Amino acid sequence: HIIRLEDYRPTDFAIHHVEMLVRLMEGAAEVVTDITLERRPETSETAPLVLDGDELVLTGLHLNGEPVTAEQFDASPDQLTVRGLPARGRFVLRVETRLSPETNTQLMGLYRSNGVWCTQCEAEGFRRITYFLDRPDVLATYRVRLEADRASAPVLLANGNPMESGELDGSRHFAVWDDPHPKPSYLFALVAGDLDPLEDRFTTASGRNVKLVIFTEKGLSHRATYAMDALKRSMVWDERRFGREYDLDVFNIVAISDFNMGAMENKGLNVFNHKYVLLDPDTATDSDYAGVETVIAHEYFHNWTGNRITCRDWFQLCLKEGLTVYRDQEFSADERSRPVKRISSVHGLKAQQFPEDQGPLQHPVRPTRYREINNFYTATVYEKGAELVRMIETILGAENFRSGMDLYFERHDGEAATIEDFLRCFEEAGDTDLSQFALWYHQAGTPTLTITEQYDGGQLTLILEQDLAKGAAGTGTHPFHMPIRFGLVSRAGEDLAIEPVAGEAEIEGDVIHLTTSRAELVFEVGGERPLVSILRDFSAPVTLRHDQPREARLALAALDPNPFGRWRALTDLTGDMLRSASLSETEGRGATYDPAVIEALCRSASDEALEPALRALMVTLPGEPEIARLIGSEIDPEAIHRARRGALRALAEAGGPEFERLRASLSDGSAPFSADAASAGRRALRAALLPAVAIAQTSAAPLFAEFEQASNMTDRLSAISALVQLFPGSDETRSALDAFYRRFESDALVLDKWFTLQATAPSDGSVEAMERLRQHPKFTLGNPNRARALIGGFASGNQRGFNRADGAGYRWVAEQLGELDRLNPQTAARLATAFRSWRSFDAPRRAAAEAALRDLASRNDLSRDLSDILTRTLG
Ligand code: ARG
Ligand code: ZN
Repeated sequence: HIIRLEDYRPTDFAIHHVEMLVRLMEGAAEVVTDITLERRPETSETAPLVLDGDELVLTGLHLNGEPVTAEQFDASPDQLTVRGLPARGRFVLRVETRLSPETNTQLMGLYRSNGVWCTQCEAEGFRRITYFLDRPDVLATYRVRLEADRASAPVLLANGNPMESGELDGSRHFAVWDDPHPKPSYLFALVAGDLDPLEDRFTTASGRNVKLVIFTEKGLSHRATYAMDALKRSMVWDERRFGREYDLDVFNIVAISDFNMGAMENKGLNVFNHKYVLLDPDTATDSDYAGVETVIAHEYFHNWTGNRITCRDWFQLCLKEGLTVYRDQEFSADERSRPVKRISSVHGLKAQQFPEDQGPLQHPVRPTRYREINNFYTATVYEKGAELVRMIETILGAENFRSGMDLYFERHDGEAATIEDFLRCFEEAGDTDLSQFALWYHQAGTPTLTITEQYDGGQLTLILEQDLAKGAAGTGTHPFHMPIRFGLVSRAGEDLAIEPVAGEAEIEGDVIHLTTSRAELVFEVGGERPLVSILRDFSAPVTLRHDQPREARLALAALDPNPFGRWRALTDLTGDMLRSASLSETEGRGATYDPAVIEALCRSASDEALEPALRALMVTLPGEPEIARLIGSEIDPEAIHRARRGALRALAEAGGPEFERLRASLSDGSAPFSADAASAGRRALRAALLPAVAIAQTSAAPLFAEFEQASNMTDRLSAISALVQLFPGSDETRSALDAFYRRFESDALVLDKWFTLQATAPSDGSVEAMERLRQHPKFTLGNPNRARALIGGFASGNQRGFNRADGAGYRWVAEQLGELDRLNPQTAARLATAFRSWRSFDAPRRAAAEAALRDLASRNDLSRDLSDILTRTLG
C-alpha cells in the first residue's frame, strides 16, 4: 500500500479537544479518551468517522455519554469506524482501550523502559494508544489525567502545564496536565516513573519564568548538568537569533534507556534517548558532549519549527526537520567554531546523505510517495533539507532571510504548513522568485558541478557546468538555481576583489548564481594567475569536479583565507592520493604516497595560525568508507584497507617526531577536565595524531600505557581505538578491552562503546568475533542502542568485515536483522540501510550481498518497515 502526496485531502471531521485518563498498572494500562469532534461543513452529513488504530483493543465506546450500539461501529485492531454521527455541531466520542506497555517491544506508542512508562508517537504511534485521526494536520488542545502507583511512579508527566495532583485510594496518586497549544497527536507524550529531577529556571525575554527540569533514572541527575546548560543556551540563542521565546511555564526533558531514535520534541515534554542527555568526563567523549548540545538544541528549537508550526502531512517532514537541523547547526556554529562546525556537517552530509542520494534508497527532500513513513527520517530529509534552508539564506542574504523567517512564524503560527507555504515567505521577504530553486525539494540526486579554468593573456575564464543524472527515484533533471560562493586568491593568500568583465551568470558579492546548465565568467586578472577557491563553505550540496592543478591545490591548502577552502583543498589532495593508492593495491602494484601531500598534512597539523580542532580535521586521513566512495564502483575493501595503512605509515615517517612533540605540547596535564570547545579541540588534535604516532611504534605497550593513564573518556577511547585498530590481536589490546569492561560493566552507554570498539576491529575473524559478542550476556536486541552498537558498528564501521568476500558478514547482519525485526521493526529497518551501497562493490561481493538480501526479503513475516527497505535496496 503506497501513500501518495497527490491524494492529500483534509479530514471529514475536526478534533477540537482531547481529554484523556490514563491508568497505569503493572502489566496493563487503561486509556479513556474523550474526543470532541465536529463534522466539517463541507463533509457529507452521512460520512462515517474512520479512526486509525494499531494493535488496539477497544473496551468501550460512548457518544455524548450514551453507549454506541453494535450496529453503529466496526472495530478492528487498526481501525474504528463509527456511523450515524451528528450532522452538525460538536459531539464527544469516548474511546476506551486497554494496552500492554510491558510487551510493546516496538517502542512506539506507550511502552516501558527500565520500569519507566513513556511514549513515542511520531510519526504514527498515537494510534497505538487510542483510536484517533492520527495525522499531523489535526490540531487539538489536550488535557491528560495520569493515575499510577505512587511507589513505582512518583513522577507523572504529560504535555503542557501542570494542573492539580493528589492522592487516590490505596497507594495510588494522580496528576493532571493541560496543554493550551493546539497540537497534532504525534506531539503527545506522557512519562511516569521513579525518576530524579535536575531543576533550573529560565526567564524569557518578555519575562516569563519557566521551570526547567531534566529527569533521569535514579542517581544519574548529576550527569544532566551539561544538558541543562545547553538547554539554557539554546533558549537564549533562539530569542536573539530568531526572536523566538518559550511559551509554557515548564519545560521537561526525560532521559530514557530504550529509545528508537535520538530524541523527540513533544510539546513541553521532550523525551530523549539517554545517550543525548547523560554525560560526565569519565564516561563521555567530547563528541558525546557536542552531540548532547546539538540534540538538546534541536528538540528545543522544534518548539517553534515543528510544534507551533507543524507539517500538513508527512511528505512535508523536511519543513520541520531540515529547518530545525539548519537551526541547530547555526547554534553550534555560534557556540563553538563556525568553520569547524561547517566542515563536520559537510563531512557528515557526504558520508550519509550522498550515498543515500546516489543509491537505491534515493528520494527527494520532499518525497511524493512512501510505504512506511518511519523510513523517511533520513539524511536526505534532515541533512540535505538543512542544506536547502542554508541555500535560501545564501541566495537571500542574512537580512532578508531573517525577514522571511519572521514572516513564516507570523503567518503560519498555529498551522500545519507545507514547503510551498515556507518558500512563499522567502519569495515575499526577498522579493524574489524561488520557483527554480524549489526544484531542490523535488528532484532527487546529487548534482555534479564541473568547473573548468582557462587562463590566457591576463584573462581567467571560469566555465561552470551542472548536471544531474536520473537515479532510483526517477525524478526530473532540470538545472537548479545553485548559489556558488567563491574567491580568487592571490599567491600572498589574499582574496582579490575582481569583478567579471563578461558573464553568463549573475554574481552578487561572492556568490555566483548558476541557473543554467552551463555558464562562462571572464575575469581580467592581469599577469598573476589567481587561485580559484570555489564552492566555499559548501554553498550547494553538489559533487564538485574541479580539475585544478595539483600545485594550485597545494597552495590553497596552505593559504586560502577561507578555512573551509583550505580544508577542502587538502582533503581533495588526500582523497586523490588514497584513491590511486587503493587502485594500485587492487592491481597488485605497490602504492605510492605523494610526498608533497604528506608534507601538506604535516604542515597543517602544526600550523599555529589554525585552531586545533580545525587542524585535527585536516590531518585526519579519510576513512575507509570515504575512500570507497571516491572509487565509486568495483570497490575492493581489502585494497583500501592496505592503502590507508600505507598512507598512515608515510605520514608517520614524515611527521612522527613532530607529532609526538605536538601531542605533548597539547596535553592539559593535570588540569581538571573542561568540556569547552577549545579544550575539546586540543584533545581532538592529540587524538588525530595518535594513529600516526602509534603505527610507528614496534609494540603496543606505549599505547597501552596511554590508555591506562587517560583521565577522561575522550583520551581513553582514542587510545583504546588505536589499540584495536592498529594492534588488533595483541595482548595489550585484549588487556585494555578487559579492563575497560570491568570498569564500565554496569554503565550501559559506555558498554555500548565497548561493543562498537570490537565490532570495528579489523581482524580476520571478524564475523566469528561478532557472533561471540552476540552471545555475550550483556548483549540484547531489545535495547536499540545496544543493537546499533554491535550490528550497526559492524555494518557501518567495519568495511572490511561486513563486506567480506565470502559473504559471511552480509549473512550475519541479515540474520540479526531478521531476528530484530520481530521485536523492533523500526530499528531493524534503519540498520538495514547499511546495505544501500551493495552495488558499488566488486562482483563476488555484489553477488554475496544480493543473495543475503534476497534470502532475508523472502521471509514472509517481515514488517512493513524492513520489507520496504529491502525491496527498495534490491531495486
Ligand atoms: N522528530 C524527532 C527529531 O528529529 C525524530 C522522530 C523520529 N521518528 C521516527 N519515527 N523515526 O527530533
Ligand atoms: Zn527533529
